Amino acid sequence: MADTVRLDVTDGVATVTIDRPDALNALNVDTLGALRDALAEAEDADARALVLTGAGEKAFIAGADIAAMSEMDTAEAQAYADLGHDVANAIEQFPAPAIAAINGYAFGGGMEMALACDLRVASERALLGQTEIDLGIIPGWGATQRLPRLVDDETARRLVFFGDRLDATDAHEEGLVGEVVAHDELDDHVQDLAAELAAQPATAMRAAKEALNQSHETTLAGGLAFERRTWAGLFGSHDQREGMRAFVEDRDPDFE
Ligand code: CAA
Repeated sequence: MADTVRLDVTDGVATVTIDRPDALNALNVDTLGALRDALAEAEDADARALVLTGAGEKAFIAGADIAAMSEMDTAEAQAYADLGHDVANAIEQFPAPAIAAINGYAFGGGMEMALACDLRVASERALLGQTEIDLGIIPGWGATQRLPRLVDDETARRLVFFGDRLDATDAHEEGLVGEVVAHDELDDHVQDLAAELAAQPATAMRAAKEALNQSHETTLAGGLAFERRTWAGLFGSHDQREGMRAFVEDRDPDFE
């Protein structure tokens, strides 16, 4: 793994930190590759919650690397888009909930990585935006598709067309982030949230995420069929038996 990405796995919580503060954690090809490797390693470690954040005081991820992109031809840009999509998909399909701890700038591809997470918590200092239009391009790592699925369609269009940078309060009002916390409290708050998620029954959590993801992938009938199958498939699992027995016996469940 390149030294621009750090992975820590403690008590089932995998924390992935983009550590390239001199470039405000912009994701060049090496850093994106390292992020993909870190996600695979976190999955191999059976992480039950994932936190994505940025090193330093200023940035979550300031986007794709503009200096590198300025030299790219179409084939290189295609490979860069493919890699960025692979990484965003790996976050979205990570077999446990992912939280973006947005500790500062989240622009362009940085916001797109946050959009691939299940939950977004912003520091009051965060600034978010799909700013690609200012560079003569469009979002390339998923925002044209994930943004309108998160916020209303017109808000998504406004963000992409105008490239507006929203502060944390406005981002919360628009539904881009689920909550805003004091900057100094962000890490502890997100780690608490992640620990709470990691303590949930893991098989059910994975099934819940897969089923919720289906709502972005398929028709209503297809998604409902997926839910029915997945729900029934949980019966017979240790956690299903234990969770229900514990209720009947009026005690706390001891999940696997
Ligand atoms: N790529 C490469 N380097 C970047 C960068 C980026 N996205 N963002 C910041 N940097 C670098 C700067 O070049 C600067 O480097 P030097 O010190 O070597 O000059 C360093 O990080 C610090 O940046 P600033 O001096 O600009 O810091 P600031 O606090 O004055 O401004 C900022 C911060 C508002 C985030 C500003 O840097 C900025 O606007 N950055 C670009 C953000 C952006 O447009 N991101 C979207 C990229 S396009 C994309 O992501 C495409 C896609 O869909 C995949």
